[in-house]
Amino acid sequence: MSRDLFTYQNNELYFADAKLSDIPAIKNYQEPVLVYQKSLISERITWVKSWTKLKQLHFAMKSNYHPEILKLFKDAGCGLDVVSLGEIKHGLECGFKPSDFIFSGVAKTIPEIEFAIDNQIFQINVESPAELRRISDIASKKNKKVSVGLRVNPLIETPTHPYISTALKDSKFGIDLEAVPECLDIIKKNPLVEFKCLSFHIGSQILDPLVFKESVEKMKTYFLDLKKQFSTLTRFDVGGGLGIDYKSHDLIADFDRWNNLKAAYDESLKNFDADILSELGRFIVARSAVFICQVQYIKNKNMLVLDLGMNNNMRPSLYQAHHHFYNLKKNSSNQVNYSLVGPICESSDVFHRSFPLFETKEMDLLVMADCGAYVRSMASNYNLKNIAQEIFI
Ligand code: LLP
Repeated sequence: MSRDLFTYQNNELYFADAKLSDIPAIKNYQEPVLVYQKSLISERITWVKSWTKLKQLHFAMKSNYHPEILKLFKDAGCGLDVVSLGEIKHGLECGFKPSDFIFSGVAKTIPEIEFAIDNQIFQINVESPAELRRISDIASKKNKKVSVGLRVNPLIETPTHPYISTALKDSKFGIDLEAVPECLDIIKKNPLVEFKCLSFHIGSQILDPLVFKESVEKMKTYFLDLKKQFSTLTRFDVGGGLGIDYKSHDLIADFDRWNNLKAAYDESLKNFDADILSELGRFIVARSAVFICQVQYIKNKNMLVLDLGMNNNMRPSLYQAHHHFYNLKKNSSNQVNYSLVGPICESSDVFHRSFPLFETKEMDLLVMADCGAYVRSMASNYNLKNIAQEIFI
């Protein structure tokens, strides 16, 4: 059984149940626009929350920080995983409470840590002994308690792009296992620092559930050892990282992917007594948006020069990421391989070197799939191009 996110009916493209060409911003197209279907997010929040072992989902705000999207998570009772003072303040403005935040990131500054401690956020995930020393000093100076997680690097081989793997040797992320004892000494010396959580995040866009299972098994043993010394240690944060298949849009396959991961986790965590936290981002929001763009020129016969560029979606130029394209209208049954390039003055502003589309003309509209995660949140005004408007169906 399959359920395709994109279908053609009478040669018109539908995104979930919406006929894209009926949307006013597309009918009167001016410039690239990002179109969201919130129901696709709500559905996935429900999938994740149905995992009975999960104590709390802390959505990774870096993947998408649109207030309307954050509201879906807030209304579902989720927390946030944040990585800067900017993200904490934005989350607070969107109605989240200090007790909703896990604060991650490798270079937390003094003002950021002070703000987190003053506001008594739920947990700071520490990334190095040096950072923990700083947190401990600030807590002492303020005479305020702070809850910390130690984010360790479990050193797992992750089948993903090296730019989004975080469990490699010499990674800047997480505490090396050999450095954990140094952290434990700092914690033991300061009663204001409560060691609450063991945390790990092995990377992003990982599809194989067995990789997650391997990391959980390794960290579970480690957790149980630490727990003998620290009765405060009650939380086990498995990070985020579950990916989607950018080359296929079968929603049933996504559901199966989630269930396979859940089953792998459940098998590893049988009889394991801890509050399980998750920091998923991409898997929940990536499918929820499409970019609409226009072919400006056709060059060298098969090169489509678009008005949409890497400033609005950096992923292909940064990680050679694949984003599928569709014709908004199918004007021919003839398929042609095109290269698709953007308007930005960089040779890497290329989405595809060869991608099959139905025969396409200048000024035709195209649809780029899976733009809900790490697309708008990474956009820039480079070349003083506009950051695209976002609309919700
Ligand atoms: N937790 C931590 C500590 C993280 O660093 C990340 C992502 C997540 C959770 C969420 O991971 P997710 O479930 O979304 O895979 N810009 C890249 C992805 C960078 C991921 C950074 N960290 C991309 O476009 O593929």
